[in-house]
Amino acid sequence: MKSRHRQRLAHRSPIMTNNWPYPKWIAHRGAGILAPENTMAAFRLGASMGYRMFECDAKLSADGVIFLLHDASLERTTNGQGIGGDWNWSELSQLDAGSWHSPIYAGEPLATLKNLAQFCIANAYDLNIEIKPTPGLGVETGRRVAQMAHELWQSHPQKPLLSSFDIDALQSAQQTAPHLHRGLLLDVMRDDWIDIATQLECSAVVCNYKLWNAPRVASVHQAGMNALSYTVNEVDAVTHLLDLKTDGTFTDRVDLLKPSSP
Ligand code: G3P
Ligand code: MG
Repeated sequence: MKSRHRQRLAHRSPIMTNNWPYPKWIAHRGAGILAPENTMAAFRLGASMGYRMFECDAKLSADGVIFLLHDASLERTTNGQGIGGDWNWSELSQLDAGSWHSPIYAGEPLATLKNLAQFCIANAYDLNIEIKPTPGLGVETGRRVAQMAHELWQSHPQKPLLSSFDIDALQSAQQTAPHLHRGLLLDVMRDDWIDIATQLECSAVVCNYKLWNAPRVASVHQAGMNALSYTVNEVDAVTHLLDLKTDGTFTDRVDLLKPSSP
């Protein structure tokens, strides 16, 4: 990467009105596509690349354990079959969540939110927990994730950010743990986006990065919230988002885009 870009990546936005505590760079699913997503191997690799904040996708097992999996179904990223949330953790914990990626990760297990919380707390890393409910379980998943996040980080000041595309899940998290930062995820723009984020008392709106433009960034800042972008893997897009004065970036390219030192 050119030195001009390195300097720009080290830039940090001014602190927003809502005491936003998080770094500007977030490793998506641990280490993007460089390791099997949402596994502890991925978070360790992301950390080894200098990242100090991670995003994960959290959902409920059939017996109520919060575990990390992006898709509703198991096929793409494990050797299991069917809907992940239909299985008990005792069964999910036996799956291979690494071989699909590459042989060096064969046998890598699925992770629980508790596994990742222990890693983050021990190393003073920040975490974004994306509430990714099995379809139909938004309210329950939002409530359980918020409750678990509250308990796991109870005696630690560096609290996780909760986010979701699922408005019911976010509302449930708001009611359960109102003190935790929340982010509204948007993949397509909607007219009432600021109203919804305001009602949910969000401190961030996390958009598909292609949705941001200057008026929208101004709107979210005027509402006292931060503008975050996913999933940004190209230097040119980063440059554009910095020019727009967005406040945080999720990336898969933990090898290319280096965060500034903490
Ligand atoms: O939280 C940002 C990003 O992870 C949202 O999209 O599909 O990668 O979970 P997705
Ligand atoms: Mg996600």
